[in-house]
Amino acid sequence: MTRRAQRGPHEHGIASPRLSMDEHASASPYVWHRTADVTLCVGDAHDVLASLPDVSVDCVVTSPPYWRLRDYGTGRWSGGEPGCLHPHAAVGMATTGTCVDCGAGWDDVQLGREPTAAEYIDRLRTVFADLARVLVPTGTVWLNLGDSYAANSDGYRCGRPGHPGQPNYRPRADRSDKNLLGMPWRTAFALQDDGWILRNAVVWHKPHAVPTPARDRLACHHEMLFLLVRQERYYFDLDPIRQPYTGDRALSRRAHRGGTKPTTATGTWPLRGLDSTGPTRVPGRNPGDVWTLPTGAPHGGRPVSFPLELPVRCIAAGCPPGGLVLDPFCGASTTGLAARQLGRRYLGIDLNPDFHGIALAHLGLSKNASEPSTEDPSHRGPP
Ligand SMILES: C[S@@+](CC[C@H](N)C(=O)[O-])C[C@H]1O[C@@H](n2cnc3c(N)ncnc32)[C@H](O)[C@@H]1O
Repeated sequence: MTRRAQRGPHEHGIASPRLSMDEHASASPYVWHRTADVTLCVGDAHDVLASLPDVSVDCVVTSPPYWRLRDYGTGRWSGGEPGCLHPHAAVGMATTGTCVDCGAGWDDVQLGREPTAAEYIDRLRTVFADLARVLVPTGTVWLNLGDSYAANSDGYRCGRPGHPGQPNYRPRADRSDKNLLGMPWRTAFALQDDGWILRNAVVWHKPHAVPTPARDRLACHHEMLFLLVRQERYYFDLDPIRQPYTGDRALSRRAHRGGTKPTTATGTWPLRGLDSTGPTRVPGRNPGDVWTLPTGAPHGGRPVSFPLELPVRCIAAGCPPGGLVLDPFCGASTTGLAARQLGRRYLGIDLNPDFHGIALAHLGLSKNASEPSTEDPSHRGPP
């Protein structure tokens, strides 16, 4: 780590308890799979986080469901007649409902289906209060969020064939149709109100974003990635994510301060720890807050929200070696893959155990004998 980087927890003398994964796992009844360095839990993020010990996580990298954009198929029917297909229960984006034919109850606790933007943000704030408790004081949280439009928001029924992950019904937004809602920034401001320190608003620029049919506005080619911390001094190591210099300017003619010019050699002079093989060995410049990264490849038929390179950067800079990385909305565990590649431990939480099955393949792991089956008949999506 350079002298310019924020010093890590150990340099500050702040206690950073290093709980083993076993201790984590034994503390939580939600464990679905565990190995020495990977634990996957099934359940609502808030419930699972409540079961984890205080100050035990070094870094969080997560992409929660965006408000009203996707259905992750976590709704369940309970009670009623066993054979009923609940044909008249258009539960869509509802969190609760009842089948008029058999009386079965519908329950869905997935994030993103809240009736209003304010309720969605409130739920995220609750999860962030949990994160504040489990995070070490010097920990970092990287939050990826995309925006939503209020257009077509009043009971709009998705056409068929629509996107298979799109909800059939979308609740009313708090702005008139066609408004961009600014959900990432609304959330960031709310988290600031709760005491989080917003250190960066990284624009994740997607060069090959999905084309939009809209003809009266520009296509959206970016999402936000916020870096949030709990205190002014936190773990941050810029060196692993510096961009190497690829030009041909001699080392002696390159900037050695500031760290933002493309020709910057490093943050300090004279260069230390470098041999004389040339400028390619020099750490390079600060990557800045616009990251151009293609969207992630789908895994197991499910779209991933971000490409591997994104959590790799977050973890390399924001998690000490050997530290524990948490993703409370982990899906196919792209964050877990990045954590393993970088030698960090990983804890992933998702409501839908099907995603953990995909994650295991993704992580090159096989199932523990103790894992529950994902073939739970009550685990059915909306009709
Ligand atoms: C945008 S996806 C995350 C994708 C992930 N970054 C990946 O690499 O695949 C959001 C995930 O949050 C999960 N989810 C939704 N509501 C949840 C809740 N209340 N608690 C935990 N997970 C939830 C969904 O099942 C989905 O897998």
